[in-house]
Amino acid sequence: MAKVKIQVNGREVEVDEGLNLIEAARIAGVEVPHFCYHPGLGVDGNCRQCLVEIDGIPKLQIACNSFVKDGLAFRTDTERVTRMQAGVLEFLFLNHPLDCPICDQSGECLLQDYYISNGKYESRLDTDKRHKRKAVPVGPRVMLDAERCVLCSRCVRFCDKVTGTGEMRIVNRGNRAEITTYPDRPLENDYSLCTVDVCPVGALTSKDFRFRKRVWHLQSAKSLCTGCSRGCNVYMEHEGGKVYRYRPRENMHVNDFWMCDPGRLTYTPLNDERLDVAIVTGEERTLPESIEQVGTWINIAVASGQSDSVAVLVSPQSSTETLYAAKRFAKDILGGARIGGGNVRPAGVQDEILRRADANPNSKGLEMLGLSADPAAVLSAGGTVLLVIDDDPLGMNPDLAGAFGKFEHVVYLGSNENATSAKAEIALPITPHSECDGTFVNFEGRVQRFWKALTPRGDSLWSPTIMGRIAEFTGQEFGWKSVRDLWADLQKTEDAFAAIDYASLGEVGAAAGSGQPASASAE
Ligand code: SF4
Ligand code: SF4
Ligand code: FES
Repeated sequence: MAKVKIQVNGREVEVDEGLNLIEAARIAGVEVPHFCYHPGLGVDGNCRQCLVEIDGIPKLQIACNSFVKDGLAFRTDTERVTRMQAGVLEFLFLNHPLDCPICDQSGECLLQDYYISNGKYESRLDTDKRHKRKAVPVGPRVMLDAERCVLCSRCVRFCDKVTGTGEMRIVNRGNRAEITTYPDRPLENDYSLCTVDVCPVGALTSKDFRFRKRVWHLQSAKSLCTGCSRGCNVYMEHEGGKVYRYRPRENMHVNDFWMCDPGRLTYTPLNDERLDVAIVTGEERTLPESIEQVGTWINIAVASGQSDSVAVLVSPQSSTETLYAAKRFAKDILGGARIGGGNVRPAGVQDEILRRADANPNSKGLEMLGLSADPAAVLSAGGTVLLVIDDDPLGMNPDLAGAFGKFEHVVYLGSNENATSAKAEIALPITPHSECDGTFVNFEGRVQRFWKALTPRGDSLWSPTIMGRIAEFTGQEFGWKSVRDLWADLQKTEDAFAAIDYASLGEVGAAAGSGQPASASAE
């Protein structure tokens, strides 16, 4: 797209021709207040909050529906613009309840923010406000507070344009106008919680998140959803060592602005039923003594030339780093242990928007590392030691119990207590993707980073570190101190990753095999 020069509040900036003035102002570091415009839903022009003054045009214009051309100059900071924006706000606040202290949107509400920056008028209201329905469940996951609604129609347009399910409508006129669903059609599409994201005020709130945390107490880390092989980009929001919610993070290569409801709720295993101490035959043990026991078994197998009696069962739930460490452990440290793994999870729903049937975040990474195998085949010959890494193969497929029984010792490296950890003689706690840096490769071969959000819980350690400590009992070591060290090795030894430099992954990832680093951040 051609670049053109424009002036925003007297400052010259270069932007793409055809951009609307809200986006152009953003590039100049200026926020134009707006409710109805959303980059994923387009222009509707109904709220009139985005008025700006464009040189050469006598009347104020809405920035969302005005577009950049070379030489255009506009201002957002004149007395006329400020007065008109305050006027629109006063109109919106006429019947808006004073709910801020008990509203879940408080702290991330555009109405609040704009009142502080562009409002601050004295109230002239001397009548009662019009009251509308409050705390109405409009679907299984979303609550509506109709009197907080500013009638921007973002939720309506989301259900019309993105999911095509059309559940939301504005009914009635004037100050009786109200957002609602049809009587027999609740808001229950698989992306319904995106309406909560796009709602600029506290009219639509998430049942899962309501009243659990004030948002200004949350910290946010860039991460990935692990619910399927799409790998939607998310903000992982947490406080006090606990994850409270996922919110979609824009990545136009992967998920645009959205994520599905089932994926959004996959954060709970990061908090619940965690394996955070080592367990040896049902008793808590220190991590060093548990690792020593595993290291001793492994060393005996190596020293007696029986490396092939060890099997390593890996999972497409694991990060690329865990899989690579497991591969090096099996091939180099053990010198030829059986290794492989595959999907043990039931297929999920696949749709035309984002959801993929494969319920694993890293099936592609497993394949690119040459580790894809039928789990039953990896186990079939039995042996001395079975190392099971991540997921819950026994819980997902109880038929594997017989094959597990063919090993003298079963060792589990995982983040949660489950049927597999219960069956293992030794269970070692490893960090989930909330507690370490790493990558997953999505179904299209896009390598994407997740960032450490939380301090590792209990005794949990990064899985390559635990495998390295076990390896030390054979007199060998990996020598990786960080994910970057591991990636330096990975790039050298794995052709499929040769063109991908960890440092160049950025916030939007890179396509494996393309040799092309990620383009500039989409945020
Ligand atoms: S419920 Fe929210 S998103 Fe929907 S019209 Fe009202 S303010 Fe806009
Ligand atoms: S589409 Fe897949 S990756 Fe995206 S939010 Fe849903 S489950 Fe998660
Ligand atoms: S954002 Fe421009 S009219 Fe609503």
